[in-house]
Amino acid sequence: MGSGFAKYDITRDYAWNFEHVPEPVDDVVPGVEGVWSYCGVTVESPLGIAAGPLLNGKWLLYYAALGFDILTYKTVRRCERASYGLPNLQPIAWPSGEALPDEVGTTESMEGSWAVSFGMPSKPPRFWQDDVAATRSRLAKGKFLSVSVVATAEEDWSIDDLAADYAQCGKWAADSGADGVEANFSCPNVSSVDGQLYLNPTDAGIVAAKLREAIPDTPLLLKIGHIENRETSQALLEALTPFADALVMVNGLSAKVRRPSGELLFEGQCRGLAGEAIRETALGQLALFDELIREFGFDMRLVGVGGLGQAADVRACLDRGCEAVQFATAAMVDPGLGLAIRRDGF
Ligand SMILES: Cc1cc2nc3c(=O)[nH]c(=O)nc-3n(C[C@H](O)[C@H](O)[C@H](O)COP(=O)(O)O)c2cc1C
Repeated sequence: MGSGFAKYDITRDYAWNFEHVPEPVDDVVPGVEGVWSYCGVTVESPLGIAAGPLLNGKWLLYYAALGFDILTYKTVRRCERASYGLPNLQPIAWPSGEALPDEVGTTESMEGSWAVSFGMPSKPPRFWQDDVAATRSRLAKGKFLSVSVVATAEEDWSIDDLAADYAQCGKWAADSGADGVEANFSCPNVSSVDGQLYLNPTDAGIVAAKLREAIPDTPLLLKIGHIENRETSQALLEALTPFADALVMVNGLSAKVRRPSGELLFEGQCRGLAGEAIRETALGQLALFDELIREFGFDMRLVGVGGLGQAADVRACLDRGCEAVQFATAAMVDPGLGLAIRRDGF
């Protein structure tokens, strides 16, 4: 499987992959017809990489050379944070016929989906700010550098404290030259309040308002997780529309992960599932939000992510009102994915 391009080594830890970045390739990148934009900024194509795979500026430039025009710098924080230990990417099988299982089983080799377990590690702010600035200066016109940020909550924090931390990180990213800021309101791998913000429209609105105040002139995207409930979706759109340019959906779906031996991985805690298995759920949620946006006239853009892996998936997202798409799993498994999709057309 794949096109032979060097890729992230899932048998090695995060620190190793951070240091071992493939050199940018100089393959010919097929053009994409049409006029595309990301939060009002012109881009060469709607093809992007989601928050996660681009661990630093070098990874970002590697994927930029592979035909991706929207590059999301991995989620960063106001303080350094180590990654969880291995396995960080555990291949899984989806129980057949189940839309949203509570639990999934592991597989030996990658069959299209995996459980993601990093815990949103971060370099110290000075490091990532300098890296973002240096990387932006090396990106061509038509490429959009988005920085994903998250707050690092302390035990006794109020929602205003949390909002201030998100806003601080967003401002640092914008001041470093980011073309846009993507705030992560959903992390399936952490149980703290910042991991579930998107399920609480009132709190999400407070944080979005503070972010907007901190970066009044920079595109603001908000990454959300899986929502089944129509009323919550509508309430979230109402709360976020005044402040955000776009919603990015979905983050990984949460489930426990069990080995064939019966042992639960990750001390029995849930992890985010990503890859092919979540495609239908992601597309379903995009359709729901697209419908709500049209019905109530919300001024909100959509960006599709979750299980996308071929040209037809890009088309499916565009048909559901998205202005762009992001890939994580499929582009890690096959870094040549962007080139292939560009050749196929969508
Ligand atoms: C290796 C890896 C790391 C990730 N790290 C983050 C992260 O730091 N922040 C975030 O918002 N999402 C993170 N995600 C979730 C992805 O951005 C994406 O929402 C999810 O993987 C679904 O897309 P996919 O099916 O194309 O992988 C990560 C995913 C992967 C595979």
